[in-house]
Amino acid sequence: MRKKIVAGNWKMNKTYEEALSLVSEIDNMLQDEGRGDVTVIVTPPFPYLQSVGKLAQGNGNLLLAAQNVSEHESGAYTGEVSAAMLKSVGVEYVLVGHSERRQYHHEDAQTLYKKMKAALAQGIKPIFCCGEPLEERDADRHFEYVGQQLKDSVSYLSNEEFDQIVIAYEPIWAIGTGRTASSQQAQEMHAYIREQLSRMFDAEAAFNCTILYGGSANPGNAKELFSQADVDGGLIGGASLKSRDFTDIIKSF
Ligand code: PGA
Repeated sequence: MRKKIVAGNWKMNKTYEEALSLVSEIDNMLQDEGRGDVTVIVTPPFPYLQSVGKLAQGNGNLLLAAQNVSEHESGAYTGEVSAAMLKSVGVEYVLVGHSERRQYHHEDAQTLYKKMKAALAQGIKPIFCCGEPLEERDADRHFEYVGQQLKDSVSYLSNEEFDQIVIAYEPIWAIGTGRTASSQQAQEMHAYIREQLSRMFDAEAAFNCTILYGGSANPGNAKELFSQADVDGGLIGGASLKSRDFTDIIKSF
């Protein structure tokens, strides 16, 4: 059975106090209401990792992810944060290849591959994000586009490394727009991704890979999305900033 995951991507939101409140609320709600067999991850901004992590991991309930990692090991890279630093404050997962990083920070396929390698070398699991812009979907080229993203970064990993990663399919036109992919569109793409992965690695490894959906997921649509055979959870942006909504999404499984 592959792992079910719901990860909250807080992006550049919340003050320190707000971040601590949010994680405490989520933790309390999950303890009171249960969350089945879902692995829950929170992804706060860098300065709050350690403090949020302490609250999150206190009961062993929530796992900690970072929003970014340097592809370099250490040294003169002002403003960057290494995988070893993340590891030392309890980070277990890291987002790699989010469309906002690709677009605003010009992270290319080779850089994303190096970031995954840097994380994996420290035992941190990358959540590799992929997804097409609206033009590609409208031109019916979305499968090729996402297939190429996987080929350009993920295919270079070893079998052992691949076993450690999570994939998140996030169509760019659905991120923060309120326009979710239909459950059928999500399922089709997730099945396609799994098939591509089974060609790059092997069928069993691809079968066991957790593939998350991201893009305007909310408590109203999560159940339908998560009911799809190849949708193993969600990467949640906006709705992860509200404890009630995020908890309800987790409970949608
Ligand atoms: P959203 O963001 O849920 O606000 O659309 C998802 C993401 O960017 O990970």
